[in-house]
Amino acid sequence: MAFKERVFSGVQPTGNLHLGNYLGAITKFVALQDTYDCIYCVVDLHAITVWQDPPELMRNTREVTAAFLACGIDPKKQIIFNQSQVAEHAELAWVFNCVARLGWLNRMTQFKEKAGKDRENVSVGLYAYPNLMAADILVYRATHVPVGEDQKQHLELARDIAQKFNVDFATSIHAHGYGDAFFPQPEPIIQGPATRVMSLRDGSKKMSKSEPSDYSRINLTDDADTIAQKVRKAKTDPEALPSEEEGLKARPEADNLVGIYAALNNTTKAAVLSEFGGAQFSTFKMALVDLSVAKLGPIGSEMKKLVQDPVYIDSILADGSARASAIAGETMKAVKDIVGFVRRS
Ligand code: TRP
Repeated sequence: MAFKERVFSGVQPTGNLHLGNYLGAITKFVALQDTYDCIYCVVDLHAITVWQDPPELMRNTREVTAAFLACGIDPKKQIIFNQSQVAEHAELAWVFNCVARLGWLNRMTQFKEKAGKDRENVSVGLYAYPNLMAADILVYRATHVPVGEDQKQHLELARDIAQKFNVDFATSIHAHGYGDAFFPQPEPIIQGPATRVMSLRDGSKKMSKSEPSDYSRINLTDDADTIAQKVRKAKTDPEALPSEEEGLKARPEADNLVGIYAALNNTTKAAVLSEFGGAQFSTFKMALVDLSVAKLGPIGSEMKKLVQDPVYIDSILADGSARASAIAGETMKAVKDIVGFVRRS
């Protein structure tokens, strides 16, 4: 059976959206809306797998929504909503808890990293997290998922769950008229050059919301002056810029700044170096300040405006949730029939 093409992706509302989230995820979401029907979800159910302060969780959920809007996702054409408003995510996740095998989850590297040495004391939700992520995608029978490198293993698990569900329930799926497969095999979308944005203070570390120094990252809410100041203070080395990419190899900070310039300007590092090769950082940074302020300044000010209007943000989420529920509800009805749950008709 051919499945309708549909994109789903999620962002956790855990605070401090930064340039890494923007170049690594949100710009890709924006680009995909020209080609696909897209569903973009603020995954608050995922966020509480580790402790979240309740008022802050609400603030962060609205802030991620504001970022989606400020970056140019069209809430009328696409669906923007928060996960907890569509109960079917949790409902399908339970079914998947009974499809996925313990051995599969035991292989998840992100759980191992996040749980660390304190395994006995992390939430059960943190362990079951990938099953919920599979439900997020499959409750819309989404076919394409833009994800970063770190989420690829979870997406593979979603494919395994879809496959096992299709096989385990094959007879019932067929009997209910769904052909050979009820769930599609969702595929990752990795577009363009992987943009790994590194810390502005240390080119060997990923830009992160939890790094203590705010100068290590550009937050999407930073205003033009702050952006300019952070770029000016970014760590560099004393050499001039090379003319070839090869010359960036042992220079993580130079590599990072050139990469950021290329990504913001929609070109390649090679193209940036053909323009700036031989230039001193002082010159290059002036250009990077101008570019960053031009691209990110308007997003920051739009986000500021939006977060001051929670009534508007909440209306976007309510509308998106209603439209998402309509799709998810249909899937869940079918799943109940397939699994053998008696339901209200
Ligand atoms: N786990 C993803 C992350 O931390 C967020 C997420 C939740 C997601 N559900 C998803 C991403 C479904 C893609 C599809 O980044």
